[in-house]
Amino acid sequence: MKRGEIRPGEVAGAAPDRADAALAFIGRIRTPFATREDCPRQGSPDGPVCRVEVDAPWRTGLTGLAAGARVELIYWMHLARRDLLLQVPRDARAPLGTFALRSPNRPNPIATSLATVVEVGDGAVVVRGLDCVDGTPLLDIKPERRGSQ
Ligand SMILES: C[S@@+](CC[C@H](N)C(=O)[O-])C[C@H]1O[C@@H](n2cnc3c(N)ncnc32)[C@H](O)[C@@H]1O
Repeated sequence: MKRGEIRPGEVAGAAPDRADAALAFIGRIRTPFATREDCPRQGSPDGPVCRVEVDAPWRTGLTGLAAGARVELIYWMHLARRDLLLQVPRDARAPLGTFALRSPNRPNPIATSLATVVEVGDGAVVVRGLDCVDGTPLLDIKPERRGSQ
């Protein structure tokens, strides 16, 4: 499918026409996935190593993160559409609402993944468990919530 096309049954509305909050990208995620088609649907613990690069002003914030930790990565799907209301996932028979899906296409294209830290150092966190295109902007890193799986 070409960029900008939608599938039969999908419905687009208007993309957000205003910004209610300001976000700042704090780095970028380096992955072996050059395009969206190359990415897995969701990251997996035995996926390839990816490098979460944190910009210099925020690096002190990595203090305490260590290999073996599980972290929730929050990132901005910069190539996503922001106007889709109904979507037809590849394996679905009928359209589903954007808020019933984990599709990257949503009004605010925020994605999350739980990843395992392989190594921390040099302003970067090396992890396994990601599903995004190389260069995807990073919004936040949080330790896994206690008690979650
Ligand atoms: C289904 S989403 C899941 C994202 C996240 N794990 C979540 O559940 O919030 C993952 C898909 O988003 C697409 N994708 C990856 N990086 C993207 C980017 N930077 N912009 C738009 N789409 C992207 C790829 O097709 C990938 O398979």
